Amino acid sequence: MIRYNKEQQLFHLSTPKTSYCFAAADGRWLGHLYYGPRLADTAGMEQAFCLNEFPFSPAVNEPDKVRFTQIFPYEYGCFGTGDYREACFDAANALGMRGVDLTFRSFEVVPGKVAPEHLPHTRGCEACCDTLDVLMTDDVLGLDVHLLYTVYSDLDVIVKSVKVVNRGEAPVTLGRVLSGQLNLELEACEVLTLHGSWGRERTITRQELKTGSVAAESLRGVSSAEDSPFLAILAPGTTQTMGEAWGMSLIYSGNFLAKAQIDQNGRLRCVMGIHPETFSWKLTPGESFQSPEVALVYSGEGLGQMTRTYHDLYRNHLIEKRWLTMDRPVLVNNWEATEMHFDADVLIGFARAAKEAGLDMLVMDDGWFGHRDDDTSSLGDWFVDERKLRGGLKKLVDEVNAMGLKFGIWIEPEMVNEDSELFRAHPDWRFEIPGRKPGAMRKQYVLDLTRPEVWEGVYSQLRATLSSANIAYVKWDMNRHLSDVGSLLRDADGQGELLHRYVLAVYRMQEQLLKDFPDLLLENCSSGGARFDAGMLFYSPQIWTSDDSDAIERLSIQEGTSLVFPLSTMGAHVSVCPNQQTGRSVPFNTRAKVAMAGTFGYEMDVRNMLPEEKAQIPGQVEQFRRVHPVVREGDYYRIASFRENHTHDCWMVVKKDRSLAFMTFVQVLATTNRPGMRVRMQGLDPEAAYEVTCDYAGALATSNGQSSTDEATGTLRKLGRFNGDTLMKHGIIVPRVRGDYQALLYEVKKV
Ligand code: DGJ
Repeated sequence: MIRYNKEQQLFHLSTPKTSYCFAAADGRWLGHLYYGPRLADTAGMEQAFCLNEFPFSPAVNEPDKVRFTQIFPYEYGCFGTGDYREACFDAANALGMRGVDLTFRSFEVVPGKVAPEHLPHTRGCEACCDTLDVLMTDDVLGLDVHLLYTVYSDLDVIVKSVKVVNRGEAPVTLGRVLSGQLNLELEACEVLTLHGSWGRERTITRQELKTGSVAAESLRGVSSAEDSPFLAILAPGTTQTMGEAWGMSLIYSGNFLAKAQIDQNGRLRCVMGIHPETFSWKLTPGESFQSPEVALVYSGEGLGQMTRTYHDLYRNHLIEKRWLTMDRPVLVNNWEATEMHFDADVLIGFARAAKEAGLDMLVMDDGWFGHRDDDTSSLGDWFVDERKLRGGLKKLVDEVNAMGLKFGIWIEPEMVNEDSELFRAHPDWRFEIPGRKPGAMRKQYVLDLTRPEVWEGVYSQLRATLSSANIAYVKWDMNRHLSDVGSLLRDADGQGELLHRYVLAVYRMQEQLLKDFPDLLLENCSSGGARFDAGMLFYSPQIWTSDDSDAIERLSIQEGTSLVFPLSTMGAHVSVCPNQQTGRSVPFNTRAKVAMAGTFGYEMDVRNMLPEEKAQIPGQVEQFRRVHPVVREGDYYRIASFRENHTHDCWMVVKKDRSLAFMTFVQVLATTNRPGMRVRMQGLDPEAAYEVTCDYAGALATSNGQSSTDEATGTLRKLGRFNGDTLMKHGIIVPRVRGDYQALLYEVKKV
């Protein structure tokens, strides 16, 4: 709900459990007042601006205006006129002089969603949200700045973005247009970010912030594996179930800045948006610029509730609707098994084995095009390598389809190798700075998709490939970061726009792909999970989470990723052991249980498996099909974290109506001479009775010191009937099992 109090000139945005308030101080300066638990009333709140105290008396204290400017809690901070904190907005006049002073002018409430054009965004109908459009102006620069707030009525979410219009007569150069700001007054806090690297993506990192600033950022051209466009502020002591958490999640896939800063008065300001370091945008009279959106969530019930709110937002209002209730295919992908060394016979062998095991789809990964035998060649040549796929793509796909399997394909459209027909024909199509040979990464270069002829040249090849056969799924990969970003067709002003225009060009290509092939399931990927962000989720309902498929490493990667992103978006596969990345061997059952927390599949040579593992696949697939609807649509509860306790990991998914839940427990390290562990469930109906069953799946139970060897793979053991209240308060005892890396799956069913 959006309310405006005329006397106070105060905006009160409220969601079911939260309030967000800001007001126009002295009718001019838009200042932030509050973001936290829902307020019944806002009377008197604006006294927090202290306008009657020196130096807070701007009307009579013009000679000391900058003293005021440097401490006023601006709703949207601007650079250059006396606010020395991290700014959201910066612009220069035609002479290059920087400085912005925004004045509040008017506002409008629009029922439903005002969606930004050409950018991924949250969706919403008139029944579920309203949008507030607050107009600020800088009359010297001739700029209108619209602060847009979408307020959801069924979720504790406020989505912000900013639109800038040049209403003047001279060009203005925008130096930064961040998407939004969060202002808080906390005596102490922690900043949570999702930090990492290739193979170690999105590891939860918490650090105390007392003075100065903490940032997460990317200058790599993609949102990156190193930092994720997300930041949360936590009140001291916040846990999964208790305490306050404020989250900011950017719906964008390129360079970003997320920064939390404490000012000289101990006030916290967080900003988030396109990274200003690699951004400038020339706005000529009449033109406008739209920032990406940032989704703000407040939870007074710990991190767990913040997570569940983001999951609901992104499942219900970002990812294309049909995927919420549609089963995802269980696939086999040949990458880890064959890399680029395969041909049609190999793939047919994979398909046969996959069909026998009850899988749904074969995905042909990197290596099917041009003459690609290794990573030195062929990116850019999106036509079939007839040496490998004799008779072409259609022949192969038809054969696979005839077995009753779907077919998926890998592409990397943003890239080119020097050894390719595309490069030989168009050596000037890649990003480069004249006079300097651009740096290669994985022997490949980035195409300048901001140029229409390059975009069209690449897209027409994609369209032709996908039209040539019955392709149900595309894995869109992107295996390097951007460097040497220069575009031969742009003048000096235009170079600062390149990195954002590049992201827009990628979005446009994915949008076009989905328009031309509306039934396609798109899975994004970037050297593992280097572009796992809410921007890409607008186009693809799932993203490959990491090239590290070791089930134990995946525990923390999936824990960090699922802190913000729904489980149903995490590409997760069972792979061979010893694991390709870590050399670790983990039971087949555990690999499957961990992969079931995401979209499920196999990334191994299904033709040549150990018979005892092969025999387990049908049971795993059958189990995934039971668990998946709850993973996909239910509520997620993080019960224990191996990253924190160094012994075990545990999570739960609960159907929205609380009639069915699954709890996965992974005993990472075995211990001896200890009783079973008490685990308290979450999210159940306290008044209902539940039947609890456990799949020990080969784990040897040693509870009470009694070793038992009678458990067969997938053995289900009825543990009995419990009250929901008991399961949550008293818990159940998870037995100690023999051996490291063991996984148990509990089914909790209302009776
Ligand atoms: C990186 C991806 O993350 C892998 O899954 C695989 O598709 C390779 N690229 C192929 O080059």
